Amino acid sequence: MAQAIRQEVAKGVAECVSRGVQPGLAVVLVGADAASQLYVNSKGKACLEVGMHSETIRLPTETTETELLALVDRLNTDPAIHGFLIQLPLPKHIDESRVLLRINPEKDVDGFHPVNVGKLVVGNPTAFRPATPYGVQQMLIRAGIESKGAHAVIVGRSNIVGKPMASMFLQDAPGGNATVTVCHSRSRDLPSITRLADILVVAIGKPEFVTRDMVRPGAVVIDVGINRVPDAGNAKGYRIVGDVAYGPVAEVASAITPVPGGVGKMTIAMLLLNTLQAAQQSRLSV
Ligand code: GUN
Repeated sequence: MAQAIRQEVAKGVAECVSRGVQPGLAVVLVGADAASQLYVNSKGKACLEVGMHSETIRLPTETTETELLALVDRLNTDPAIHGFLIQLPLPKHIDESRVLLRINPEKDVDGFHPVNVGKLVVGNPTAFRPATPYGVQQMLIRAGIESKGAHAVIVGRSNIVGKPMASMFLQDAPGGNATVTVCHSRSRDLPSITRLADILVVAIGKPEFVTRDMVRPGAVVIDVGINRVPDAGNAKGYRIVGDVAYGPVAEVASAITPVPGGVGKMTIAMLLLNTLQAAQQSRLSV
């Protein structure tokens, strides 16, 4: 599915180029977080593969908020850049919400600016939808899993996944029309809630948190987690697991996504789609 979306994006990019606009994405990384470095490299590579212009800007951990805001201002007006993102998390001394608020909403391909959050909630189609829940929704649509009338239970209430996922499932649109429950680390008797799910989306950031007894037989399970756990038998000393105990849960679920190789592949494809949307919506391309 991710590959199919990338091919669709490549076609859209070629059309833009034939009209004299090459869609461009800039990715900004502050500091040396190991996971963030991997993500940023993958995003840059994926851009080039679909024919986009790509810039990766790496800044030292000591970068000040003022310096980062100046970079945001420059990218906001750079005509070669249709979309950009600041990789999160940021170093502690930088106020994340102030930086996100400074991004031009028309270039906010992460969909984290309050203007895009609001547009998503009211169902405005020009919204940029956060790539991870957008990828989850596309996966369900393309797999023929009907969300209309289903009970979608989301575990996790982050601004990046849980909250936008809830908004998308609520929309009166394809991939929406669900009955939505959001639960989180403070929810009382969480297993009694997850067992009600027809579609269970898990993004709580705890390795193998969802166990077999928490899933209704026949449910569809989407695992958004990426966790490192120690593994002496692995050359790296660790392995990657999701937020769902895959093996036991796969025995009762009607469909389930693996980690790695599941939602993560979709996320980058949706970021590329958002960048194409930014280029198409920009005044430069019309
Ligand atoms: N960190 C984890 N996920 C994301 C994402 O989707 N966008 C950005 N900018 N940072 C992240």
